[in-house]
Amino acid sequence: MKNVQVSGTEGYAEAAEFLIPQWKEISFSRQHQIVMHLLPTAPARILDLGAGIGRDAAAFATMGHQVVAVEPTRELRQAGMTLHASTSIDWLDDSLPDLTLLRSRKEQFDLIMLTAVWMHLDSQEREQAMHVLTELLADTGLLIMSLRHGAIPAGRRMFDVSADETINLAHKHGLNLELNKHTASLQKTNQQNGVTWTRLAFRRKPS
Ligand SMILES: C[S@@+](CC[C@H](N)C(=O)[O-])C[C@H]1O[C@@H](n2cnc3c(N)ncnc32)[C@H](O)[C@@H]1O
Repeated sequence: MKNVQVSGTEGYAEAAEFLIPQWKEISFSRQHQIVMHLLPTAPARILDLGAGIGRDAAAFATMGHQVVAVEPTRELRQAGMTLHASTSIDWLDDSLPDLTLLRSRKEQFDLIMLTAVWMHLDSQEREQAMHVLTELLADTGLLIMSLRHGAIPAGRRMFDVSADETINLAHKHGLNLELNKHTASLQKTNQQNGVTWTRLAFRRKPS
């Protein structure tokens, strides 16, 4: 039986062999320099959504955190599990917007990372996903996400999602903006193609 394609993952399985070596070149500290001051220092529960090959999950595990890494593309998830075997990382085959398997575990997280993932969801999925994210976020929890702007690579499902739309949606779901920065791309090809990123961080409004 053929697996049903998860919305947003189009093109990743086919390109995995080409993408994995490129992604291995990007370090956690370079990728997240702009939000480093916001990351937890005491041991925390961290959710890495759309974890790819687990660069961030592995770095967080090394820092002493417990990580759930959700990655629906089998080729990427398996590469991540092999590259970063750690008892502090729990890999899950699940997907936005519903995260059915993850939600059945009734866990909450101090930090949720969505690095280069949100733009794969359409507007209806983003509404549903934001609702689910707030359910998964612990009381003082932090949500960090990045939005991609620029030409869409062939074969991918992507939408140009604005910072304003995302901030409004997060506000509607009880999240306060803590950081909003626009940055250049780290990857050479993306730089040449004029791709830029917005980095956003939100914290739950005190009740
Ligand atoms: C550009 S990659 C980023 C991977 C990783 N976060 C990183 O920064 O290296 C986008 C990732 O989102 C995943 N993805 C796409 N659609 C998704 C969905 N509906 N739910 C969860 N992850 C999804 C892809 O499989 C892919 O691993």
